[in-house]
Amino acid sequence: TEIPVIAVDGPGGSGKGTITQMLARKLGWHLLDSGALYRLTALAAERNGVDLADEAALVGLAGQLDVTFMPTAPGEPVRVLLDGDDVTAEIRTEKCGDNASRVAVIPAVRAALLQRQRDFRKAPGLVADGRDMGTVVFPDAPVKIFLTASAEERARRRYNQLKDAGVSVNIDALLEEIRARDERDMNRSAAPLKPADDAQVIDSTGLSIEEVLGRCMAAAGQA
Ligand code: C5P
Repeated sequence: TEIPVIAVDGPGGSGKGTITQMLARKLGWHLLDSGALYRLTALAAERNGVDLADEAALVGLAGQLDVTFMPTAPGEPVRVLLDGDDVTAEIRTEKCGDNASRVAVIPAVRAALLQRQRDFRKAPGLVADGRDMGTVVFPDAPVKIFLTASAEERARRRYNQLKDAGVSVNIDALLEEIRARDERDMNRSAAPLKPADDAQVIDSTGLSIEEVLGRCMAAAGQA
């Protein structure tokens, strides 16, 4: 396909979610939040009483997810529906992210979600957010960005987000969770988190959202 893709990979909390939404809006392109598919698989398991060790059942759930992504006003998170239920807030909890990373180590679950992710590639273009967009899902993407930030900075950002949302958390516990999730994402054998050979690495530590967006637009050749 000639339909362009900007693949943005990196660890959780690197700012990928915010940046990819802004990029997609700025360019008028489609957006794929691939992490949401893993989170939704984990949530569907919880709702259906499926054990996270039951690989066959998880693959079945992943293959049959009834998902809708609903566009919203600028600056608002995309709304996510599972079986018609709005689960936007529910899939963003630490627990759901943690469970998602457990489900994501299973190769057959990843395979069950592969074509669904590729189907997001529609004209005029796609901005894809994940861990393996540039390495596995869209290896031919003309633009690949690997967005990182130090674990401490990512914990701080998450802490502030949660505080603003009225949730009180311990920042040290958050840092521990972030490190554990990084570890799991980087060391799994199926599609581990790593920059594609041809990715441009951008470290967002200490940068504002606007600065990161500017660097990503420059990397995408649209600055
Ligand atoms: O990006 P997000 O935090 O929503 O992703 C949740 C989890 O889903 C990640 O920690 C990772 O284990 C998994 N994931 C993945 N491949 C992707 C996107 C997310 O394995 N492309």
